[in-house]
Amino acid sequence: MNRSILTLDEFTIQQLKRFPSATGELSGLLRDIGLAAKRVNVEVNKAGLVDILGDTGRMNVQGEEVKKLDVYANGHFTDVLQRGISCAGVGSEEMDDFIAFDDEISRQSKYVCLIDPLDGSSNIDVNISIGTIFGVYRRVSERGTAATQADFLQQGRSQIAAGYIIYGSSTMLVYATRRGVNGFTLDPSIGEFCLSHPDIKCPAQGTIYSVNHGNFFEFETGVRKYIDQCQQKDQQEGGPYSQRYSGSMVADMHRNLLKGGIFMYPGTAGKPGGKLRLLYECNPFAFILEIAGGAATDGKQSILDIQPTTLHQRTPFFAGSREMMDALGDCMLCAP
Ligand code: AHG
Ligand code: MN
Ligand code: MN
Ligand code: MN
Repeated sequence: MNRSILTLDEFTIQQLKRFPSATGELSGLLRDIGLAAKRVNVEVNKAGLVDILGDTGRMNVQGEEVKKLDVYANGHFTDVLQRGISCAGVGSEEMDDFIAFDDEISRQSKYVCLIDPLDGSSNIDVNISIGTIFGVYRRVSERGTAATQADFLQQGRSQIAAGYIIYGSSTMLVYATRRGVNGFTLDPSIGEFCLSHPDIKCPAQGTIYSVNHGNFFEFETGVRKYIDQCQQKDQQEGGPYSQRYSGSMVADMHRNLLKGGIFMYPGTAGKPGGKLRLLYECNPFAFILEIAGGAATDGKQSILDIQPTTLHQRTPFFAGSREMMDALGDCMLCAP
């Protein structure tokens, strides 16, 4: 192994050394997330050979069938965060309410986390890439007390860090802080995430658009106009574009982040709020995109400026390359 390649631990400690005022709690939290990711990765890679596929027979607060891997991943991420020293509590797609860790060390901790422990659950049983999404906030409640709802209902712009794990052809952990976006690939030979994609920037323009066309006729006019534009791009206009949509937000967003592109989950006549959850799907990706030079909106405002009111609220979501987002905005502005 090339000695110059930093592991996640070495990278977070290197960042810590650059800022002597840092306490190391965020570095510790990121390492904890890396540990949980490695544990989930083992089961994801064996899925089909162990009893981890299929449904639990339960519905979650979202009204979705809960998969065994949803529960397994939720357990590992909440356990590792509770056992660490950096996190005072967790809000999760798979838990009706947030949990405030009630031990003394956790009550003193600086941060809270919001997680989508397993994103793309519908793809688990058919071996398409899935992921985990997380956002980290400095708590607003007093240290030494239990975390409160206000700690979890902060605007996305307040995130200290946000990231995701993609369990794909390789397993990657990508996270952003205000200092940049960095990607780490799991090296199974040493069991460590290693820096493979330093300082990720989202190309300003791309030729990929990602949307569930099945809902096309329910989208508002401006969105349909933009999708028509994407379909009609010829070579003179930098086209042709490709439509790529996997049903796993993490996989589609990761590809578009690296290659350039736009991902859309608009509201529909039946579901004006769309499907994706603000706190643990949209805010983390909006933070990552804005740090990487892209953009993320609900069609009107930056996702990061939305003031949350409930843990599982949904929002229309448009995110990706800045120039493609500008073109979408033009279509939505000039729509009747
Ligand atoms: P989750 O598996 O965490 O519930 O999230 C699924 C989300 C997201 O990953 C994906 O982009 C979207 O659902 C797909 O929704 P549709 O099947 O309605 O297109
Ligand atoms: Mn789900
Ligand atoms: Mn999800
Ligand atoms: Mn999920």
